[in-house]
Amino acid sequence: MQLALSTWHEVEDYLRASHGIIIPIGSTEQHGPNGLIGTDHLDAEFVAKGVGDAIGCLVAPTLTIGMSQHHLGFAGSVTLRPSTLIALVCDVVTSLIKHGFERFLFINGHGGNVATVTAAFDEIYAASSMRGPGESSPVRCKMIFWSQGPRATALAKELYGDSNGSHATAAEVSLSQHYHPEAIKYAQMSPKVAPKSTGFFDCADYRRRFPDGRIGSDPSVSTPEHGAQLYQASVADMVEVYQAFVAD
Ligand code: NI
Repeated sequence: MQLALSTWHEVEDYLRASHGIIIPIGSTEQHGPNGLIGTDHLDAEFVAKGVGDAIGCLVAPTLTIGMSQHHLGFAGSVTLRPSTLIALVCDVVTSLIKHGFERFLFINGHGGNVATVTAAFDEIYAASSMRGPGESSPVRCKMIFWSQGPRATALAKELYGDSNGSHATAAEVSLSQHYHPEAIKYAQMSPKVAPKSTGFFDCADYRRRFPDGRIGSDPSVSTPEHGAQLYQASVADMVEVYQAFVAD
């Protein structure tokens, strides 16, 4: 069930039975020679909608732009500064709290969001912790990568081993190819497996270390068929994560 395709009456009915919602979050940033700029938010959205279709939980509109300052050296990348993303997440969650939502599962596609979104969750908890004595809030926020569950983790390892990498990964490119087969791109990769990361600072430093944008990955082996397998695995993983989270 998608928030964007629901009426307010339908949302009111939903809230009589459930207080949980999934918020897909990703980024708009370079993903190497054959990865789409939207890879991170497309993948998170695809899996989140799959969970919504499987168990009928509500899925919010995707937060498509994340904290990607280190990718600004590549054309097309767009970032929110950390303070903007914190404000965005707080405003989205606070709006939904007003209607009665209490469990917010962020299905994430982008590592660069983790520190900032975690800080946003602490802002939300701080607001209730700093209210008067004895007041407590049922609000709980959790973030998890679509690729983080046991099935998807094992499948990515089986398909790609160590060359899955950590940015523009073979798995994330495959999943986006399954979601948008009309946008599949082909490119030569040199070297075949990109250099691994020992850290980076600003966007110029990132581009110097990772000239074609990839980190540790070989997405030339990505296929939409792999993407279909990863989709099944990730949706099954995230259904379990969501059900445990709302039951807690
Ligand atoms: Ni990515």
